[in-house]
Amino acid sequence: MEKEIQEAFQKDLERITSYQEIQEVKNKYLGKKGIVTELTSNMKDLSVEEKKEVGRLANTIRTYVTEEITKVEQRIEKEELNRKLEKDTIDISLPSEKIRRGSRHPFQRIVEDVEDFFVSMGYDVVDGPEVETDENCFQRLNVPLGHPARDAQDTFYIDPEYLLRTQTSSVQARTMQQNTEKTPIRMICPGKVYRRDDDATHSHQFGQVEGLVIDKNVSLADLKGTLELFAKKMLGENTKVRFRPSFFPFTEPSVEVDVSCFKCGGKGCPLCKQSGWIEVLGAGMVHPHVLEMGGYDPKEWTGFAFGTGLDRFAMFRYEIPDIRYLYTNDIRFLEQFDRKDEENEIK
Ligand code: PHE
Repeated sequence: MEKEIQEAFQKDLERITSYQEIQEVKNKYLGKKGIVTELTSNMKDLSVEEKKEVGRLANTIRTYVTEEITKVEQRIEKEELNRKLEKDTIDISLPSEKIRRGSRHPFQRIVEDVEDFFVSMGYDVVDGPEVETDENCFQRLNVPLGHPARDAQDTFYIDPEYLLRTQTSSVQARTMQQNTEKTPIRMICPGKVYRRDDDATHSHQFGQVEGLVIDKNVSLADLKGTLELFAKKMLGENTKVRFRPSFFPFTEPSVEVDVSCFKCGGKGCPLCKQSGWIEVLGAGMVHPHVLEMGGYDPKEWTGFAFGTGLDRFAMFRYEIPDIRYLYTNDIRFLEQFDRKDEENEIK
């Protein structure tokens, strides 16, 4: 009996070629009405001795059948895999999908160039918060509460004490206070500022870079020399710089700085409105009272400060007609600048 089952089972096994057939064979032997199960179906009529014998036999066959079926299962799996591998060959000559590369934002390119220049001149690059106190943004820069100069910078106030900084000059006030040893300062601070303004050349958010130098015997000539080098680095070797008297509450004297138009070289064109010059910077000698509020004795120390809009530099360099392009993150716009930098041979 045992042998008969075994032979039949072997024959069944050999015929298996698919998963479905495995299930059928499994059922035939081990299922509820299967051959092995049937062996023990009339156990209750047997004697104790016979029960033992039949039980042992059934178990042996069950184990044997299970093991053999598992082996076949593994074999079939392997065969299916091989069949798949043979059929699904990969055509390595097919062109691959183009990977889209990101590119540096024009704004970021300008920031990196500004940082490179000033770091090479021994400046630190510092950072300050965009949510700032009225004290750092105005009061410590000689703009007390109620001062008319506040009107010039339409400020987003959070509450009477806190605001979104309107100028990176707030970082001048911070840097002076934080330098508790009152040692010389040479810093720039690129960052975002906010004003209630919105049109093709003004955005409610834009970029500035602040510069502050405090030391003994710093003069307006140092400021001019520094800014001349800076303008040449940013806009080309032939760039000239011109100072015009101006007013800022925190500098005295104050100047507005023009650069010769890099489009027409100073001859006059639509970009410079035929004047040959373009205004790029506000600057001046740090006001004695501002030095004092920062803990520096104005009899001992002098300094200069300057602030410039980063967006304007980006717009000039890349001839971007609308400031809003810088903030809408349109990939078609952003992709152009690797090529433009190559054409302009600006690294
Ligand atoms: N903070 C001034 C502005 O936003 C620019 C400036 C900075 C002027 C430093 C003088 C010195 O207009």
